[in-house]
Amino acid sequence: MLVLGIESSCDETAAAVVFDGRRILSNVVASQISIHSKYGGVVPEIASRKHIEAISAVTCQALEDANTTPSELQGISVTMGPGLVGSLLVGLSFAKGLALGLDIPFLGVNHLEGHVAASYLMDDPPELPYVALVVSGGHSNIYLFKKDGRHIMLGQTKDDAAGEAFDKAARLLNIGYPGGAVIERLSRGGDHNRWKFPRAMKASLDFSFSGLKTALVAEINKMGRPFADEEIPDVAASYQEAIVDVLVEKTIKAAQDYRIGNVVVCGGVASNGRLRERFYQAAEYVGIRVFIPLAFLCTDNAAMIAAAGNSHLENGTKGSWNLNAVSRWPRMDSE
Ligand code: KG4
Ligand code: ZN
Repeated sequence: MLVLGIESSCDETAAAVVFDGRRILSNVVASQISIHSKYGGVVPEIASRKHIEAISAVTCQALEDANTTPSELQGISVTMGPGLVGSLLVGLSFAKGLALGLDIPFLGVNHLEGHVAASYLMDDPPELPYVALVVSGGHSNIYLFKKDGRHIMLGQTKDDAAGEAFDKAARLLNIGYPGGAVIERLSRGGDHNRWKFPRAMKASLDFSFSGLKTALVAEINKMGRPFADEEIPDVAASYQEAIVDVLVEKTIKAAQDYRIGNVVVCGGVASNGRLRERFYQAAEYVGIRVFIPLAFLCTDNAAMIAAAGNSHLENGTKGSWNLNAVSRWPRMDSE
């Protein structure tokens, strides 16, 4: 089945063509990072406008790169939530219009299901059952995907998401946006033991990251000055290590508690090199297989949305024309 994926939930306008939910024929992402970076975060109104400007060209590029035409498409899979409603509506409305014009089915997909589905695009995809950690700018959730494909949530963040913790720290340290990638880059060569940041809620599968930012503020207040340039690698490495520690520990604990041998790690934060390294080490140590998609499939893209929609479309599921964008949607049932 040839499926067009469309993603516009936050600050990336993306379109991709995926064959049979497994083979990426094209994957186009237009990032708005340079526009939002001067504000230190995504400005929703600007994001929606930029999606409107980009969506047609990005889709045409995806079709061209895949060497295909609209008439060859057999379905459209589009993110309908969670995310910024104005941004989601651009992709959703565009997908509905295109599907109506082409007389093909479309499906509204949960963005988090998309992140998990990025693992289906790996050369060696995971088999059910597996534990999935979805870590992004808005979510830090642990799910158990059972043998029949159904899922339950095992843990979630009680306050900030892991990506949010990276982004807030980068803002406090005045080192740029988005925070995760900048902190990873600046932490290279840094000493992650120099500062001891808190690891919260040790016994639970839930997360809490807001205390980390508070600890960083407290450290700055205690010194009575901002971190010096030569201290940045150490503080970035120490802060990153605190986030990585709890993500790895709790996810592995979830797999062990439920006796699951496969773990999927996905979402924008899963592109972090230190997180990936620590997961592979921990998994080897406890005898679990860990599946982490390539970095460009961890950050927001539309190939994962096409992959997520593929099996539903193959089963004949169709989105109804009155589907609406959903801002909060922690479960992952596509419609
Ligand atoms: O999945 P994603 O691209 O968008 C959302 O669904 O939110 O994730 C974005 C988040 C941001 O908070 C960003 O700082 C974080 O992923 N991120 C990273 C890295 N690259 C992006 N966090 C840690 N290390 C990275 N290399
Ligand atoms: Zn995402």
